[in-house]
Amino acid sequence: MKKIEISPSIISSDLLNLSEQIKKCEESGADSFHLDVMDGDFVNNITMGPDLIKAIRRGTKLRLDAHLMINRPDKYYKKFIDAGSDVLLIHYESPVDTGNLIKNFNRENIRYGITINPDTDFNKILKYLDNAEILLIMSVYPGFSGQKFIESSLAKIKKARDYIDKNNLNTRIEVDGGIDNITGKMSIDSGADILVSASYIFYNNIEQSIKTLKNL
Ligand code: DX5
Ligand code: ZN
Repeated sequence: MKKIEISPSIISSDLLNLSEQIKKCEESGADSFHLDVMDGDFVNNITMGPDLIKAIRRGTKLRLDAHLMINRPDKYYKKFIDAGSDVLLIHYESPVDTGNLIKNFNRENIRYGITINPDTDFNKILKYLDNAEILLIMSVYPGFSGQKFIESSLAKIKKARDYIDKNNLNTRIEVDGGIDNITGKMSIDSGADILVSASYIFYNNIEQSIKTLKNL
C-alpha cells in the first residue's frame, strides 16, 4: 500500500490557539501543512500573509506549502519563501506568465507545485509538470473551506496519474477541497498521493480525523 500524505489546511484551525493545533496535528501524524493565501482579488476572500507564515515556521519543522491564490505571485513569491515556506503552490489561472515564473523558480532553486481549478483542463499544464514537485488538483473552486467535493475531479486525478506514471515523473498528485473520509478514499483510489483537508480535520476531532485520513 502506498503512503498517503495528509496536509492539514490551517485556514479552519482555531487561530487563537494555533501553536497547540499545529502540535496536535503533528502528534496525530500530519505530514505537512497547507497554508491558504488569498488576496481578496484572485478569490473573494482574504486570509493570511507572510507574517503568519513566519510564526507558523517557528512552530513546526514539517514542510510548509503556501497555496498562493493571488493575482501577483510574480510580485510576492519571494516574501513567502523568506517567511519560511518550503513549497509554493501557484495557480495556472493567475494572470501572470506561468512559464516565466517557473523559470525564476528553477533558477532560484525554489520548490513549487502547479495548481489547476476544477474547470481547467489537465492538458493545459503538461508542459509545466517536469520539475513540479506537486500537481495540486482543486476539487472545489478556491476561496473558501467547507465546500462540497466536485466529483468530476476524480476523472482528472486518474488522467494525471496515468500521465505521470507513463512519463516517469516524480510529481505528486495533491487534492484540495471537500476532502473527508469518503471523498479522500475516492481520491486515493483515483491516484492521489496527498490529501489537503481543513474543515474535516479542524471541525471534528483533530487526532481522529487525521488518523482516519491516513488509514484510508
Ligand atoms: C480552498 C482552499 C482549500 C480549503 C480546503 O480555497 O484552497 O485548501 O481551505 O477546505 P476544506 O477541506 O474544508 O474543503
Ligand atoms: Zn488550498
